[in-house]
Amino acid sequence: MSFPHHRPRRLRQSAAMRRLTAEHRLHPAQLILPAFVKEGIDEPLAIASMPGVVQHTPDSLKAAATEAARLGLGGIMLFGVPAARDARGSAALDPDGVLNRAIADVKAEVGDELVVMSDLCLDEFTDHGHCGVLTEDGRVDNDATLEIYAQMGLAQVQAGADVLGPSGMMDGQVRVIREALEAAGHTDTVILAYAAKYASAFYGPFRDAVDSQLQGDRRTYQMDAANRTDAVREVMLDLEEGADMVMVKPAMSYLDVVADVAELADVPVAAYQISGEYSMIEAAAANGWIDREAAIAESVLAIHRAGADSILTYWAAELGRRLMEEN
Ligand code: PBG
Repeated sequence: MSFPHHRPRRLRQSAAMRRLTAEHRLHPAQLILPAFVKEGIDEPLAIASMPGVVQHTPDSLKAAATEAARLGLGGIMLFGVPAARDARGSAALDPDGVLNRAIADVKAEVGDELVVMSDLCLDEFTDHGHCGVLTEDGRVDNDATLEIYAQMGLAQVQAGADVLGPSGMMDGQVRVIREALEAAGHTDTVILAYAAKYASAFYGPFRDAVDSQLQGDRRTYQMDAANRTDAVREVMLDLEEGADMVMVKPAMSYLDVVADVAELADVPVAAYQISGEYSMIEAAAANGWIDREAAIAESVLAIHRAGADSILTYWAAELGRRLMEEN
């Protein structure tokens, strides 16, 4: 009888041994909470396709931000849902618009205790739901959109955003935003570029979360799921254009891309565990098909293991609370 020379199971024999030998672990500071604020409501509104996530009122948003700060989360990423929309997404530039006001409110509440991030994109604000303005024949007009993004970036920084998250996938968006910031003396504003953002079926529930008006899809500007090297190119361009951090999105179906980007980028890498990834796990758990808490922890840890330094996840507060209790 010959015995195995190597017994990897030795290091898995107890929870304590596994804790000692874990290669990756999560910390609240790695988690970023995406949050939605809706104009004109008095009570937070449940989002049917995202059980546990709400469209906030200004007050409930402030409470969520305070809690995020208390938990030591990495940041909060704000999305606005306006009451009225138009073809050019004008409410995005209005200092009194829902998102700009939310940034100011949250910043006033948390100060430097939490990093305040804002989504920089027109899709929530346009009546056609696209991330940019349209040409007469209905195509998304890259360069006309860039001018609006530059102004939107300035409006968000004036409101108090620490980090801008351009997510519209227009070519050159990081450059125009960076130039506008520098020209206005905002030299400290961080740009977290949604660098590799794929057109994905898993954004479905988010469209509910922001009352999206979109007909059709975003395949002419968001990336094609078939492509891997395209992500490398997008990340290099965004770094060259002045991004401080880069993001891969979605996360779970794109862990190869997260790994590639982590290898290539010499800046912090974020990944966004998007709405559909959240809702799939919640739905399966609600049916009793998977263990909810274990599935949440495993899914987020996997994104970190693939190479993400920070993870945007709708479970950020819940997971942060759990991690705090465990330590
Ligand atoms: C664009 C934006 C989207 C998401 C974040 N920013 C929607 C899209 O690209 O269609 C999706 C986030 C999610 O699904 O959780 N403003």
